[in-house]
Amino acid sequence: MPAERKLFIKTYGCQMNVYDSERMAEALGGSGYVVTDDAEEADMILLNTCHIREKAAEKMYSELGRLRGLKDANPDLRIGVAGCVAQAEGQEILRRQPLVDLVVGPQSYHRLPQMEARVRGGERALDTDFPDEDKFDHLAARPRARRGPGAFLTVQEGCDKFCAFCVVPYTRGAEVSRPAARVLSEARDLVERGVREITLLGQNVNAYHGDGTGGEWSLARLIRELARIDGLDRIRYTTSHPNDMDDDLIAAHGEVAELMPYLHLPVQSGSDRVLKAMNRKHTADSYLRLIGRIRAARPDILISGDFIVGFPGETESDFADTLALVGAVEYGQCYSFKYSTRPGTPAAERPQVEEPVKDDRLRRLQALLRDQQHAVQRRMVGQEVGVLFDKPGREPGQMVGKSDHLHSVFVFVAGDGVARGDLRRVRITASAPNSLAGTLV
Ligand code: 5AD
Ligand code: SF4
Repeated sequence: MPAERKLFIKTYGCQMNVYDSERMAEALGGSGYVVTDDAEEADMILLNTCHIREKAAEKMYSELGRLRGLKDANPDLRIGVAGCVAQAEGQEILRRQPLVDLVVGPQSYHRLPQMEARVRGGERALDTDFPDEDKFDHLAARPRARRGPGAFLTVQEGCDKFCAFCVVPYTRGAEVSRPAARVLSEARDLVERGVREITLLGQNVNAYHGDGTGGEWSLARLIRELARIDGLDRIRYTTSHPNDMDDDLIAAHGEVAELMPYLHLPVQSGSDRVLKAMNRKHTADSYLRLIGRIRAARPDILISGDFIVGFPGETESDFADTLALVGAVEYGQCYSFKYSTRPGTPAAERPQVEEPVKDDRLRRLQALLRDQQHAVQRRMVGQEVGVLFDKPGREPGQMVGKSDHLHSVFVFVAGDGVARGDLRRVRITASAPNSLAGTLV
């Protein structure tokens, strides 16, 4: 048995990185590592980076700079960079930052134990291949520890859409779906370990088309099969592209009780001119009609989305179209970003919108989205929802969990015997800026 070592992982960006960080921790578990949340006691620090926006690489270099003191204090400390910045920068990281021992791209995490052994021996290790073997397969032999009630499960990676602003097709590569049988067995394993809610992940999750019995399975088919697993009470998926919302998936929202009434469906802009320049291959109107069909299937569904303001060429009138689309949709929750140039993507070469204009548009859009979010939350007051309890709340006797619609709900449960992992009916009594309060029914 190898000596116990401490592993600290800092995760940036999306939920897929959260999942990947868990997989990396499991892979290194076999080399004797246990996870710590204290970087100071770590024998290995991994930064799991995100490259989607802002000056990701610069941020990572300054974060690495801050680790110097720890390395000085503990010469045995090993430092690694994982994720999409590792993929994009590769060798450059080793060249620029002598502190770094290991660079590993998102497709190579299953090789971490071998890489770890090399860096322990004093070498530096780099792996940013897109190997043929399935990294998930190699990661399957993991310790079967008990889990919290919610888990992520990556079913698809990469993207073939090439939106003009996005680096994902370059960092994560072509779209690949995991075979359905693997997903199902991983889901069963999670449920046996205490998980009741699974969020299926993929950069383009609704483009899922994994091998299954009788041919390729769609995401809808996969969800219908997952819903049959005893003890799996809730299913979600993220992130989706409007053009991949097929009829069966829409129907599943009305038919599969376990499929939660929440959908993250980014549109990015409400201007057809901008959407075309973004290479989105849908229009504002086709998106609105799609939302109408989804709501017809599941009237209480909460819609969430992503927006980019200040995309190259976006005029004030284009931006007004975005505000109009937001008004028509009524989002329950949304993410919005200023366009940021990603080297190597088509839009990076185009004339850019000035920063103050972007700032102003982002402020106006976020004010509107915030109002909508609050309006949707206030409408929840008086309604009864399911809440999957996850952890203690801010005050004694309080627990917090996620509602069916993915709201955080605070509930006083003292004396009611509610434990982590319990799914209970709750009546919503109040709405706060980013959460709800309720009472057990
Ligand atoms: N600039 C700003 N936002 C971006 N996103 C992706 N690329 C960029 C970029 N270059 C946003 C999109 C996407 C979300 C994950 O990040 O809105 O849906
Ligand atoms: Fe990026 Fe567009 Fe693919 Fe989403 S669909 S990952 S925004 S290229």
